[in-house]
Amino acid sequence: MCGIVGILGKGAAAPRIVEALKRLEYRGYDSAGVATLWHGELHRVRAEGKLRNLEAKLAAHPLEGEIGIGHTRWATHGKPTETNAHPHASDRLAVVHNGIIENFRTLRDELIAKGYRFATETDTEIAAFLVTDELAQGKTPAEAVHATLGRLRGAFALVFLFKGEDNLLIGARQGAPLAVGQGEGEMFLGSDALALAPFTDRIAYLEEGDWVIATRESVEFRDAGNNVVTRRFIKSPAGGLLAEKGNYRHFMAKEIHEQPEVIGHTISHYVDLSAQRLKPFDWPCDPMSLNRISIVACGTASMAGLIGKYWIERFARLPVEVDVASEYRYREPPIDKGGLTIFVSQSGETADTLASMRYVREHGGRTIAVVNVPTSSIARLADVVAPTLAGPEIGVASTKAFTCQLVAMAVLALALGRARGVLSEAEEGARVAELVATPGLLAEVLKLEPAVEKIAQTLAQARDVLYLGRGAAYPLALEGALKLKELSYIHAEGYAAGELKHGPIALIDSAMPVIVLGPRDPVFEKTISNMQEVAARGGRIVLIGDAHAAEEAAVAIESFLAMPDMAPTFAPIVYAAPVQMLAYHTAVIMGKDADQPRNLAKSVTVE
Ligand code: AGP
Repeated sequence: MCGIVGILGKGAAAPRIVEALKRLEYRGYDSAGVATLWHGELHRVRAEGKLRNLEAKLAAHPLEGEIGIGHTRWATHGKPTETNAHPHASDRLAVVHNGIIENFRTLRDELIAKGYRFATETDTEIAAFLVTDELAQGKTPAEAVHATLGRLRGAFALVFLFKGEDNLLIGARQGAPLAVGQGEGEMFLGSDALALAPFTDRIAYLEEGDWVIATRESVEFRDAGNNVVTRRFIKSPAGGLLAEKGNYRHFMAKEIHEQPEVIGHTISHYVDLSAQRLKPFDWPCDPMSLNRISIVACGTASMAGLIGKYWIERFARLPVEVDVASEYRYREPPIDKGGLTIFVSQSGETADTLASMRYVREHGGRTIAVVNVPTSSIARLADVVAPTLAGPEIGVASTKAFTCQLVAMAVLALALGRARGVLSEAEEGARVAELVATPGLLAEVLKLEPAVEKIAQTLAQARDVLYLGRGAAYPLALEGALKLKELSYIHAEGYAAGELKHGPIALIDSAMPVIVLGPRDPVFEKTISNMQEVAARGGRIVLIGDAHAAEEAAVAIESFLAMPDMAPTFAPIVYAAPVQMLAYHTAVIMGKDADQPRNLAKSVTVE
């Protein structure tokens, strides 16, 4: 999952390509490169590491030319070295690629037998050589690309730049997104509208299997069957300005602190605040006809789904199954015709989630997308979109998108309960009031940051950390462990507190912090018992609970974070903040890059 861009412009292309790549860095940041055409010849500059390394190289060796392509990489095939960095090139063309070409080994062997010499370990180079081979047989660039596309298997987006062709870029989409932006006598290709926002807001999206022949003045879309097709240009809402960190050291810190505001926006999208009632929701199927609901997502979004399960089962009295998309898509799960599956995704581009959604639709299921990027593939494919209004999330670790997803799940649960006649109007009012209180509570909790930072000092010394929770706090424990792992690289696990005695209790010793998420809910007393089991074995307890929680626990607690009193129903929305701040500060104390942790990418568009 990389970011790709192509520019057919006026004026120097390379600086504009770098500007676009900055907006695509969320898709990968282990190496980057640019290729331009100058007097008909291809020129490339590539660099290992973050985009700033490429910028430094370009400053020293500027690239001329008004047409070019660029790439920011998340390595799939081959280490993140300069040699493996895109664009890849032959003597006839350069290409950038996002995705995986699955049959590359066979194609590579075939090309080697023909005499092609590979310089890289990537799957992309075969695309460069296959098109080159077709060109060598006398085909035009468009014919050569078309012939090549028919031979590639996998999920990919590609943009080709040809030697001697100063007014031509060819792009293709199969399983990975590609957008075309139209300017005044200029044309742009990119992984998303955000990348192209500095140049144009007129955007058209390639459909699955499409490929496109672009010049400065024209664009021709062709479908998988090579028919010329129309793809509508729309005015894209993607903002022109790149999000700024403001006074924060990291985007992640800023995004944690934005949560009271953005969950407030999300709540007001779904709730009539003056009446304290839910606004009508447009269901893609009859809620009364449902026997169950499925929720499918990846990573943090799947934790939001797991918490949603607690709420939907409670308020709508419907069984809910939650799956990670990478398992779901290949399990061939039976789909109820007209049944409902909810997909949760910040980016709306996660490959496994998108493929799972396609599977459900192909089998007659109805879909809702809880999604943060309204122009994304998942948003466009869903029957109904339930938006999260988190705004652009730049930090790779999801924070504000997660709490907005929780708001959307809470609203869907309550709305389903109402639509199915199992939640009274009075209860709707009471629960909505609790939901509306969460932004204020979250704002209060953010003031605990100095205390969180102190606890983070001790976590930063740990090799392993355990997170425990019960009820809806259990998936939040999973999320806490995920956050700590991805940011600090400390091994962490989340467990249902009641499950501890079935194995993981063997891990308890005086070296491992055990973080207990203990909101005052109906299972709080059970959580206390589990805490006592940890204490009895000399475990180091960090308790996150209300003001009286530590006293009531009556065990030795190493650190205590006193949360405000609140109704327990939507406590995970509020308790998410200390969990996020703990992971953030631990990472910062350890000198890790909190915005761009190693090996990760914000949007995972490969499977
Ligand atoms: C969150 O901190 C992660 N980096 C990751 O788990 C993420 O939530 C997951 O990749 C799903 O992404 P999506 O919400 O964009 O689909």
